[in-house]
Amino acid sequence: MTSPVFSPLVLPCGATLPNRLAKAAMEENMADVGQVPGPTLLRLYKNWAEGGTGLLITGNVMVDGRAMTGPGGVVLDKHSEIAPFRAWANAAKQNDTHVWMQLNHPGRQVYAAMGGDVLSPSDVAIDLGKHSHLFGKPRAMTQQDIEQLIQRFADSALKAEQAGFDGVQIHAAHGYLISQFLSPLTNKRKDEYGGSIENRMRLLIEVIKAVRAQVAPTFAVAVKINSADFQRGGFDADDAKVVISVMNELAVDLVELSGGSYESPAMQGSTADGRTLQREAYFLDFAKEIGQVATMPIMTTGGVRRLAVAEYVLAQGIEVVGMGTALAMNPSLPNDWKNDSTLSAHNPMVRWKDKTLSAVATMALIKRQLQRMGQGKYPKPNASPIFSLISDRIRIKKLTKRYHHYLNKYPTR
Ligand SMILES: Cc1cc2nc3c(=O)[nH]c(=O)nc-3n(C[C@H](O)[C@H](O)[C@H](O)COP(=O)(O)O)c2cc1C
Repeated sequence: MTSPVFSPLVLPCGATLPNRLAKAAMEENMADVGQVPGPTLLRLYKNWAEGGTGLLITGNVMVDGRAMTGPGGVVLDKHSEIAPFRAWANAAKQNDTHVWMQLNHPGRQVYAAMGGDVLSPSDVAIDLGKHSHLFGKPRAMTQQDIEQLIQRFADSALKAEQAGFDGVQIHAAHGYLISQFLSPLTNKRKDEYGGSIENRMRLLIEVIKAVRAQVAPTFAVAVKINSADFQRGGFDADDAKVVISVMNELAVDLVELSGGSYESPAMQGSTADGRTLQREAYFLDFAKEIGQVATMPIMTTGGVRRLAVAEYVLAQGIEVVGMGTALAMNPSLPNDWKNDSTLSAHNPMVRWKDKTLSAVATMALIKRQLQRMGQGKYPKPNASPIFSLISDRIRIKKLTKRYHHYLNKYPTR
């Protein structure tokens, strides 16, 4: 009997995903000169497309080249040349795979070494104890900044559609800019964008409406939100339910539920408020609870690396199972499951005493696998975390220097 994970899913926009498995967004930090996709990114996505995953969601693509989550990130704005993006979409669409571009603005989660603009709803800086100085100091956004930001999301979505992507996913999770607006810990505004959840979600709703107005009705528009920030006084499951009930009216094709931020990396299974998450399918209980109010399909991501767990997630009423790490460790995991349903992907979690450093080392280890695939090599799941961390730091230093040249020429707003 074929597993239910291999059954198709029709989305509200009319598109049919070939199966229920999605590669969740993973920032590759592998852009070519000019912050555009190049041969290594194409190779990586071709690899995933051949591996049997039905939907590939790209790593976050920046809507503004002056605000980046990392120096090797891809930027797509209204001035971008479309050809490299067309090539990227083509590479990812082999094998009838669907590809969505994740669109993001980092807000205050910008490394100080990067430079550029550090914007946030309010001027609340990141608190990561002794590591806080690594991040830029945010400036509270003006009404004009907000309007420009909304336009940027709409411009990037239109360009993604023109390049051949099947959809976009608006990143409103993980403590980035839209998530900062959603959270009462980072949004202290006194205007109509702050205060009640209705006000805190206003930016997200305006972004969704602006994007929808630009693209065809058959183009998928998805949103990734936190089920909770996992910080005391932060955005919580009740807030998430309110946001979803409003999104029900907005032709949103899928909502991915995740959790956490740089301050509380729940998306890596570790929280700042001490709450424990399940060892596998971290956000499943939240997704079940929050998903009850949703009329669109729900996807949940976090900790899945076995077919039995993916099937369990679907059996709980969730429509799509997202995987990040597992597909970095084995890009052909879905196809491999067809031959061996007991196969599990390697879990590279680093557990050092310093939680922040452990999170960075885990990310470095995973990113190294993406780079290897981009170079045409197989992943090396047992690679050394220390070596991966050091080589990641060296790489980031070089890329930051390159990004500064780009930034110097980038048009100011
Ligand atoms: C290297 C790496 C990069 C990531 N980049 C992004 C990103 O760009 N956008 C995003 O929404 N999530 C990002 N994530 C989070 C994943 O989408 C996912 O939510 C998280 O890894 C938990 O799922 P997993 O246990 O299957 O990896 C990233 C995760 C990793 C490991």
